[in-house]
Amino acid sequence: VADFSPDDAVMLQDVLRGLALPEKNIPSLYFYDQRGSELFDAITAQPEYYPTRTEIGILERHGAEMAAAIGPGVRLIELGSGSALKTELLLARLEEPAAYVPVEISREHLMAAAARIAADFPDLEVLPVTADFTEPFALPEPVRRRVQRNVAFFPGSTIGNFPRGMAADLLAATCREVGPGGAMLIGVDLVKDRDILERAYNDAAGVTAQFNLNLLVRLNRELGADFDVSAFHHLAVWDEAAARIEMRLISTRAQRVHVAGRPFDFAAGEVLVTEYSHKYTPAAFRSLAEGAGFIASRAWTDPQALFSVQLLEVPAAAQDSSGGT
Ligand code: AVJ
Repeated sequence: VADFSPDDAVMLQDVLRGLALPEKNIPSLYFYDQRGSELFDAITAQPEYYPTRTEIGILERHGAEMAAAIGPGVRLIELGSGSALKTELLLARLEEPAAYVPVEISREHLMAAAARIAADFPDLEVLPVTADFTEPFALPEPVRRRVQRNVAFFPGSTIGNFPRGMAADLLAATCREVGPGGAMLIGVDLVKDRDILERAYNDAAGVTAQFNLNLLVRLNRELGADFDVSAFHHLAVWDEAAARIEMRLISTRAQRVHVAGRPFDFAAGEVLVTEYSHKYTPAAFRSLAEGAGFIASRAWTDPQALFSVQLLEVPAAAQDSSGGT
């Protein structure tokens, strides 16, 4: 049995709340049941979906520079258990990392991620933490090496799923978590032409459509809902003013849906928003990071400037000068 977190009661509450709003929505974290995770992996292999392969390319090409900028003896704290490949590209280049600390709310995903890295880096101390990384958590201490620096790793542009205010809060919380002298290496998708963006989220093979509609399949199965999945269609739209992709499920007819016995009416053409994926200009992300207490010290991108990997650093603690007050 999969270890779903947040639990079913929380999911039900979130779904009932979102469907009761005048602009109906369902939080995007509920995409990732087993089928949803498989479909996301399939999305990353679509020719139109540039983010994953572009970020991997940036890590391959510039990983050595990133490792040099980060320095030796790092406690690498990964926020969420993403793709093992990205973590390995970075870990392989770091000089004597002190520990790898994956932080993930789902125990099952966490243990899988920890085991993969432990198998490939037998000398590395792997210290998994089950936690919601948007809340403060205690960092585990390695026993074999001294930690010289805390570095949070947050690839995949997952930051884009957070509204900008919450993204700022998460960066500020990470800034406190890594502490003075710490750093964050974060993948951030960039603002670009509407065509490229809309194609990436409306792939021709229809995998993103399946991924989006699978959310309704999941609600039917896990919450006893009665969505007619064939009466909704997928559309992703670039909202230029808000600088975000909006993932929609559109009701093809007037219909009533029940979730846990409660009725929700959809008009023909009514939109259910399932995800926002915010994009940033390099300048906009720098100002977000600096507002959160970081110095945005380096950014690496691909030749077409589709995606970026940014190094954010926390100033070292002010030296207590003996001449001071
Ligand atoms: C995993 C949040 C980075 O926003 O591009 C892909 C999720 N949604 N296609 C993204 C997603 C539709 C993805 N993130």
